[in-house]
Amino acid sequence: MQTLILPTDTSEFAKDAVARAVTLLGTGDVVALPTETVYGLAADALNPEAVAKVFATKERPLFDPLIVHIRRADYLATVAAVPEEIEKEINRLTQEFWPGPLTLILPKQPCVPDIVTAGLPTVAVRVSAHPIFSRILRGLERPIAAPSANRFGRISPTSASAVMEELNGRIPLIVDGGACSCGLESTILRVEPAPDGKAKPLFHILRPGPITPEQLKEFGKIVKAKPRTNPKGTEAELEAHASPAPEAPGMLASHYAPATPLRLLERPEDFRPDPTKRYALLSYRGDAKDGFLNLHDWHEVVILSPGAGKLPEAAVRFFYVLRQLDRSGVDEIIAEPVTEVGLGVAIMDRLRRASARA
Ligand code: TXA
Ligand code: MG
Repeated sequence: MQTLILPTDTSEFAKDAVARAVTLLGTGDVVALPTETVYGLAADALNPEAVAKVFATKERPLFDPLIVHIRRADYLATVAAVPEEIEKEINRLTQEFWPGPLTLILPKQPCVPDIVTAGLPTVAVRVSAHPIFSRILRGLERPIAAPSANRFGRISPTSASAVMEELNGRIPLIVDGGACSCGLESTILRVEPAPDGKAKPLFHILRPGPITPEQLKEFGKIVKAKPRTNPKGTEAELEAHASPAPEAPGMLASHYAPATPLRLLERPEDFRPDPTKRYALLSYRGDAKDGFLNLHDWHEVVILSPGAGKLPEAAVRFFYVLRQLDRSGVDEIIAEPVTEVGLGVAIMDRLRRASARA
């Protein structure tokens, strides 16, 4: 199959790309679309055959459910049944953060096919802030299921060319909406009513992302997530892992992995290089004071946010840089930790997953 990339940088191009995407989605095909977080591999969420194509294209195991994207908060009831006990909290969150990189886990409506939710009684829902994605939703008049547009377990794509690297020849169309402005996948949140009915609701952050714990704690009490282990084994064993379904089935410890091994080096003094190997450094701010830059004669050094180290810049560049290092031909990528506050929580989560080998 020939994979076409359509630009959107003039109003005529955008109109054409939107129309082509809507036609393909309406006939049960999959297309890659830009969002503000990462590119998504989209399908009509209410068409189980189309959703099955998403799983097949990504080689994604069926136990890993997809996020459903809706146009606006007022369409929420079409895919999710918001429990009365948390209605007020959900309204506050959607007013504050939608459209934007926050995904909410809620009980699903019967119209959402089981393949979308991997048989779970809940559905993950978000409203993307990307204008092109939003126009496509408006044209299709149906919700869109879209996981990140990478092959399963690989690095999420933050540009049309990164999607091409992942899925060339597997999908008919990539709509090029430019580089993603967040660069990390949405924050996934499950809201639980306050135990005594009066205090703040309990927030379970199932995946840290661009909406930070600091931003969320104004709206609810953040409950520490239980550490997750990575299921190892054959496909069949992985399938078995889905029952009983874990809370965030896709959050395997090993994920977002480059083909080149990556190691998160929490302390520079722990580095014991093998003299026969070539190493690249993924540096946070490229400052020798941090103790990593002069630690070794690096084959390649890439800096996430040169100078003072700005977390939003590091987040935007993170997956792009990981892809670049993966192509550099080194034996191992050594990653410095970033400051673990705000967006740094999400970056460290991705670094830990990228460094875990299944
Ligand atoms: O920013 C994003 O969220 C991007 C863009 C394209 O919207 N999408 C994305 O999708 O990152 P994906 O499939 O790569 O990650 C979705 C995560 C998976 O870890 C999955 O397990 C989790 O959401 N998830 C989906 N439905 C769930 C549910 N009902 N309960 C718990 N976790 C769920
Ligand atoms: Mg993904």
